[in-house]
Amino acid sequence: MEKNKEIVLSGIRPTGFLHLGNYFGALKNWARMQYEYECYFFIADWHSLTTHTDTSELKSNTRRLVSELIAGGLDPEKCTIYAQSDIPEIAELYLYLNMLAYKGELEKTVTFKEKVRQQPDNNNAGLLTYPVLQAADILIHRAQYVPVGKDQEQHIEMTRNFAERFNHRYGKVFPVPTAFSYSEDLVKIKSLDGSGKMSKSEQQMNTLYLNDDDALITKKIMKAKTDQGPEKPNSKKPEYIQGLFTLLGLVSAPEILAKFEYDFNHCQIRYGDMKKQLAEDMILFIRPIREKAEALQKDPARIDNILAKGAMRARISAAATLLEVRKVLGFKYL
Ligand code: TRP
Repeated sequence: MEKNKEIVLSGIRPTGFLHLGNYFGALKNWARMQYEYECYFFIADWHSLTTHTDTSELKSNTRRLVSELIAGGLDPEKCTIYAQSDIPEIAELYLYLNMLAYKGELEKTVTFKEKVRQQPDNNNAGLLTYPVLQAADILIHRAQYVPVGKDQEQHIEMTRNFAERFNHRYGKVFPVPTAFSYSEDLVKIKSLDGSGKMSKSEQQMNTLYLNDDDALITKKIMKAKTDQGPEKPNSKKPEYIQGLFTLLGLVSAPEILAKFEYDFNHCQIRYGDMKKQLAEDMILFIRPIREKAEALQKDPARIDNILAKGAMRARISAAATLLEVRKVLGFKYL
């Protein structure tokens, strides 16, 4: 780990299988950032408890997620990969930050309101303070940049507020972090029916997962929604068609994309052919990631070792921050 590089942190919840949206929205950026910054990437297993109360598969989900992250480009020699629950310092910082977070602002959070609707029988306090725990994740390493998708922007904004409040009240400990992306417009990967986003746990036939086998990839793509094709030249593409073009742009050669764009604009597109081509190229894209992740999963000791090493490094950074926090707060009796 080189000194004096800016610090990057991001996390992902172990609540399902990684899909193309996770890859192009997050993982691809993370893999690039590890060569340019000091990066911490972690499995947000505490966060998953706010919605997934059954923990019987937590361990296998976490191991699988780590293998998929590595298969998708993270190098444990270049970045620090750990599980949130291995870093007790985060819980202590969460406690302090909770005293700086107001009920009103937490209740207004979009993700909170969504969850309240989705799980009326389990409106637990952890859901309400989810953004505070996320702020603790980020601030514990005094991170500067947080590479996340658009849906997380409000959480980062709240983290900035908590950091500023803390600094103002007790002394300047935290840099004020910002959301990070390499490109202006984040790639949005629609579900294959064009109705929403790809999802780790819902709508599985409309989501392409990094562990889908070749036959399943073909099946999902071939049944993706299309129509008769445009009637007028240079028409605007419906969302579900645009989604297929976006995927083609990500995994196929530029001349292939150009050919189907041309066919669309000249009202001669054959969606069957386009989907066949997309399925072929998608298989070539996903297969090596799937195979690498499968190989890693056959060696759980190796994964556990990566997590143990990551936790050790992460705890050093976390403990240093917490020492500063306790000092300025006045909790330092020993
Ligand atoms: N809330 C994030 C998500 O659902 C996961 C997450 C937890 C996270 N803590 C974080 C992301 C800290 C970035 C930084 O995707």
